[in-house]
Amino acid sequence: MRTKIYMLIICLAAPFLTVSAQEINLAHGWKFRIGDSSAWALPPYNDSGWKTADVSKTWEQQGYPQTDGFGWYRVHQLIPSSLKEKAFLKDSLHFDLGYLDDGGEVYLNGKLVYKNWKTGDIKSGLYGPGSFSVSVNDPALHWDEENVIAVRLFDTGGNGGVYGDKFDIKMTDVMDNVTISTDGDFYYGEKSLGKAIKLKATGGNYNYAGRLSFKVTDPETDTIVYQKTNPANFTAHRPFTYTFTIARLDKKSYRITYTFTDEHSGKQISKTEGTPYILTPYVKAKPRINGPDVFGERPGNPFLYRIPATGQKPLVYKADGLPSGLTLDAATGIISGVADTKGDYAVAFTVSNKLGSSTKKFTIKIGELIGLTPALGWNSWNAWGLTVNDQKVRTSANAMADKLSAHGWMYINIDDGWEAANRNANGEILTNAKFPDMKGLTDYVHSLGLRMGIYSSPGPKTCGGYLGSWQHEGQDAKTYGDWGIDYLKYDWCSYSEVTSSRPTLDDMKKPYQLMRASLDKVHRDILFSFCQYGMGDVWNWGGQVGGNSWRTTGDIEDTWKSMSTIGFSQDKTAEGAKPGHFNDPDMLVVGKVGWGDSQHNTRLTPDEQYTHISLWSLLSSPLLIGCDMGHLDPFTLSLLTNDEVLAIDQDALGREARQTAKKDDYQVWTKELEDGSKAVGIFNTSDKYQLIKLNKADAGLGGYTKVRDVWQQKYLITAAGEFVTKVPPHGVVLVRVSK
Ligand code: GLA
Repeated sequence: MRTKIYMLIICLAAPFLTVSAQEINLAHGWKFRIGDSSAWALPPYNDSGWKTADVSKTWEQQGYPQTDGFGWYRVHQLIPSSLKEKAFLKDSLHFDLGYLDDGGEVYLNGKLVYKNWKTGDIKSGLYGPGSFSVSVNDPALHWDEENVIAVRLFDTGGNGGVYGDKFDIKMTDVMDNVTISTDGDFYYGEKSLGKAIKLKATGGNYNYAGRLSFKVTDPETDTIVYQKTNPANFTAHRPFTYTFTIARLDKKSYRITYTFTDEHSGKQISKTEGTPYILTPYVKAKPRINGPDVFGERPGNPFLYRIPATGQKPLVYKADGLPSGLTLDAATGIISGVADTKGDYAVAFTVSNKLGSSTKKFTIKIGELIGLTPALGWNSWNAWGLTVNDQKVRTSANAMADKLSAHGWMYINIDDGWEAANRNANGEILTNAKFPDMKGLTDYVHSLGLRMGIYSSPGPKTCGGYLGSWQHEGQDAKTYGDWGIDYLKYDWCSYSEVTSSRPTLDDMKKPYQLMRASLDKVHRDILFSFCQYGMGDVWNWGGQVGGNSWRTTGDIEDTWKSMSTIGFSQDKTAEGAKPGHFNDPDMLVVGKVGWGDSQHNTRLTPDEQYTHISLWSLLSSPLLIGCDMGHLDPFTLSLLTNDEVLAIDQDALGREARQTAKKDDYQVWTKELEDGSKAVGIFNTSDKYQLIKLNKADAGLGGYTKVRDVWQQKYLITAAGEFVTKVPPHGVVLVRVSK
């Protein structure tokens, strides 16, 4: 009966259905319910009593707060054979079902056709696109009839559900098997910029033959500054490489468009990327001391701080006024030892080389408060996901020591995936084969003057399905202490299975209080980073429960939508930030990311990356690099080593920026700094160049006469009452204003 009604609607709508004749929009008609039953996969099951699901939203966003665990979604859909008849390739039907958060299984008329987990079970499934193909001959596919698509889902914690922008069914197109791979690095010549890109077929036997057009556009004027077309042929076995060199033009990002046209099918595929441009000035040969102005450690615990300094090597370090118990290695700048006496110590660091010397006043606070400024470090997750191992951590530590520690970067944090499947007979946590010697690894990281972080969950299992600390909190804290760990990220995940299904504020605090008490028994300063995705407005209480930082959101992705939605929604959290306690809008997505073994260049444009680093610094966020540190290209390195930008993040006042203007196409965020100056980020949220004009009095900047462009590290000449600046699409101008 239902089938016939659908047929009728399709016939009536036929004259204007040319697009939908080739593509079925699946964004509507979904139903869902919480729970789990294998019967819900089967077509005859009657789901008419289920709730209507809005698949543009997570469970939580549609009014089901803290819904974790199992749930199912179902939709009934006619699939007309005209789709197949009109297609150029007639091999398979492609389904896009938004994102599955976290573990997901898709059933077509009762048959499992897709799952996002490989080992274990659905609980180890990882958040990702619900995108898959089904052969046109698959008996599960009922052409010209109603099909029931059912999704079984397991959400480990935080936001969950089946949701996203893209819900459709269409025949696999000849271009669906083609990727334009732009993941190579840009080559920087003295006056030129170059790159090799690849056209690849990911499957099938088709011979692609046609042309590749390469176009460089100035986004400010929308004019094409360079254009070239080349023949291009490739197959699944033989990729096509195109290498180009263009003159480096002005200091801004140009838009490159690569378009391949296949002659036989007439189909096209395009990809666009922005050219990187570096604003951070070159590091000077004269010594300069970077990093924060203040550092806290608890009395009686091991002290470790590497004085961050740039300049031509060799550098010689000196520190006057160190608390007793601490010593400095003059050749490496590493301060270590144990200080027993509480107090604020005014220290003077001096760093010299053959070109001169530089001195900086610094305060060492020996007391109970640690993590006085947001952590600067690396975390394995956004780069390596569960494939992290000892070697990857060492590579990152070496890169941090060589290239970043001179700018204040300090933490090397292992995320999920280090834990063994079982505890030992005494109940102690063990590492898996990827980490043969955690103590040895930690010693190595410490020898570089860096600090080491680790990850666990208060639940029985972590989000990646590894062992959590449930009922072993004291033991795990002790093990971390024995290994020499300095930072713990504690991720809610399966804790939802062992607490109330509607946790109260007390329920939410409890696991963090328990681990805090356990960490306090260890004679090390272990920064405590909560990861519970902002539940219960954690920014209002995370500090009281002993958090040094707390995630305020779900997981970030390397897209403008994800980064900007997270970053620009933090105003509500601002009051929570203070020295020792910071909001964490999640880790950075610049450089090569991948959440697993294969890496890709971040999908953020260069200007979006400037926005990301500027905004996170204004927000006093922990800056945790999430990329493959073995492959830091010059642009990414320039983003992470701008000392004046980092100084905004590391400002000792510990305030968070407030949103001081929000218009349709731009926003202004302003942060109070310790010396009385203000950092101001003017963000263009539109996709066009804009001239943004701030009336200084309206922007709370009346009387602030000096305006310094922080990325370029130079003063700007501005008119008295206003500040006018050109801001690229999705980009930023970050200034520091003073009187
Ligand atoms: C959650 C966290 C991520 C990461 C993974 C590990 O998704 O939010 O940052 O730690 O778990 O499984």
